[in-house]
Amino acid sequence: MRERQPEIVECDGKDFDETAARLIWARIASIPSPLVTFPTGSTPLGLYRRLVQEHGTKKNIWHNIRCVSLDEYIGLPPGDERLFARWLGRELLDPAGVPQTNRTMFNSLAADTAKEAARIEQWIAQNGSLDIAVLGLGENGHIAFNEPGSSFDSVTRAVRLSPETRSANAKYWGSLEKVPEEAYTLGLKTLSAARQIFLLVSGAHKAAALDSTLNGPVTPAVPATVLRVHPRVTVIADRAALGR
Ligand code: PGA
Repeated sequence: MRERQPEIVECDGKDFDETAARLIWARIASIPSPLVTFPTGSTPLGLYRRLVQEHGTKKNIWHNIRCVSLDEYIGLPPGDERLFARWLGRELLDPAGVPQTNRTMFNSLAADTAKEAARIEQWIAQNGSLDIAVLGLGENGHIAFNEPGSSFDSVTRAVRLSPETRSANAKYWGSLEKVPEEAYTLGLKTLSAARQIFLLVSGAHKAAALDSTLNGPVTPAVPATVLRVHPRVTVIADRAALGR
């Protein structure tokens, strides 16, 4: 496990979306039929608007993207506004025109959660592993829903959300009661197999987590530190997140 410093692209808050869109699009467009996972959350919303505005007409590329869920709440019925698959569809995949047949998403209502997680893990393995993983960073150092303590060898699975993550997610849905207690997540090992990883970090409230990610000990206590042993990670961060 050789440790390396990820590439850090520092930007002004106002340049964040443009920078992320430019770098991520260049990578997407360089691969014939890329297998990509995208995050939900507040951080990537401006990026998605840019991708749609600037590249939405390039249907030859969008029609060939293969998209797999990064994470998803457990127990929500189809059509529920909290489904991450629906959120990502509305913000990016629908306006960009990614065909439904190219979207492999968790079934939030699957009866057997272990089987459902294994289905996604196997699907990724059968399709040659991720080309690009775009990730956000939790204030507690999580990536996807790999909460503190997640093994670097973890695969796709059902997890219980930490109290910190549930209260951070309450801002999306207006109250803590609306945030499910369990979720699916791609595992740290699954994400580490991606050929290229982009970590998006914006805002002063993420500065402590980003500092631990870049400068603290490499440890499952800060799941994002797994990125320090990956050969191709680009951290796109604004100055506030970098504590500058
Ligand atoms: P945020 O969420 O983009 O809404 O800050 C990031 C995360 O928790 O992974």
